[in-house]
Amino acid sequence: MNPKPCQLLVHHAGSVVTWDSGTSTQADALVIDQGKVVAVGLESELRGAWNPVSELDAGGGLVVPGFVDAHVHPVFAVGRAEEFDWRAEGVEYLEIAKRGGGILSSVRNVRAASEEDLLAKVRSHFRRMRRHGTTACEGKSGYGLSVESELKSLKVMQQAAEAEGMPLYATFLGAHMFPQEHREDPQRYMDILCEEMLPAVKEQGIARAADIFIEEGAFNATQARRYCARAKELGFALRIHADQFHEIGGTQLAVEMEAECVDHLEALSDGGLEALALSGKTFAGLLPTVPHFLRQKIDAPGRKLVQAGVPYFLATDFNPGTSYTPSLPEVAHFARVRLNLSAEQCLFGMTLGAARSLGIGAQKGHLGPGADADLLVLDLPDLFHFGYAFGENPVVKIVVGGKVQQ
Ligand code: NIG
Ligand code: FE
Repeated sequence: MNPKPCQLLVHHAGSVVTWDSGTSTQADALVIDQGKVVAVGLESELRGAWNPVSELDAGGGLVVPGFVDAHVHPVFAVGRAEEFDWRAEGVEYLEIAKRGGGILSSVRNVRAASEEDLLAKVRSHFRRMRRHGTTACEGKSGYGLSVESELKSLKVMQQAAEAEGMPLYATFLGAHMFPQEHREDPQRYMDILCEEMLPAVKEQGIARAADIFIEEGAFNATQARRYCARAKELGFALRIHADQFHEIGGTQLAVEMEAECVDHLEALSDGGLEALALSGKTFAGLLPTVPHFLRQKIDAPGRKLVQAGVPYFLATDFNPGTSYTPSLPEVAHFARVRLNLSAEQCLFGMTLGAARSLGIGAQKGHLGPGADADLLVLDLPDLFHFGYAFGENPVVKIVVGGKVQQ
């Protein structure tokens, strides 16, 4: 039989992780056509069946699914490096927020930025993520906190993703913090969120999910219940920030509301863990660079959660205040050291685990036949080396939708 034409042959892989058959040391090549994986196997056999238009030599590296970053705050205009010094002097994250710094300082910058400037910034954030192997991401608004600035943020994020070829799953985070002008009248902001912002975002179709920061100094469980119920009613999926510093009922609410995920969890109680394990639906979003960045001594119970069978993902939480890194390989290192996860659990959490949490596990996060051809070549001898080194980018080749990125 004559070999069939195909778009791309990736060959000379040391090994290929597909998640369909686990880590296959048998396979050293993949066939890609029309942006999808069509076959995985031995180069010697695949060459007999396929005639590729182009080829990519993996140089003996580890081929893995492209990273899916499922918790990102990319819509900010400037960093907050000065706060990093304040923290060194002992000022706590929530104290900085109380003084009008933190999230509210990013809000002032985003509101003041022109759409053009903001677009350039968000594009640069996506490019930094891409260099570290992120081939698709979730992205949150949340530094606008007014109808106008939240819509601006979501629109700019969409434009930036299109311009950079970054598949984006957008989340509205108008409930990130009470803005300065409504701090004396939180009820008014709750009304704006539920009756103006959520419906406006829905009408424009520019976010698939809604998020809220449930924490002392941000939103309490009663406010969160109203917001989540309204978001659900409008058809939004829910992704929730909770149990970062204080346990005030966020995880229980997330489970009750059948949220897609509840993220942070450094202050998760045994009861919260049990609720997640019983739910089996709501993912634990693990963000191990955050407590490091905040100089905290506590971590989410990563290993316990995974052992209890709770679905999970690992993400950067890329943002200017609590995790200023666009790098999922760096997150893998922190997850191995601080959450006691294995290399395989780390890679799974930032590929298929992350994709499943976003409802895109059929097409993304794995490399079985039919999956989107989003893949990476890592300059690593085997999977045990993933997250072993830190401060080094192992990503040497990136393919998105079957196209080799330059
Ligand atoms: O996920 N904790 C709340 N939100 C972000 C931080 C945002 C910021 O400080 O700018 C987070 O850590
Ligand atoms: Fe976050």
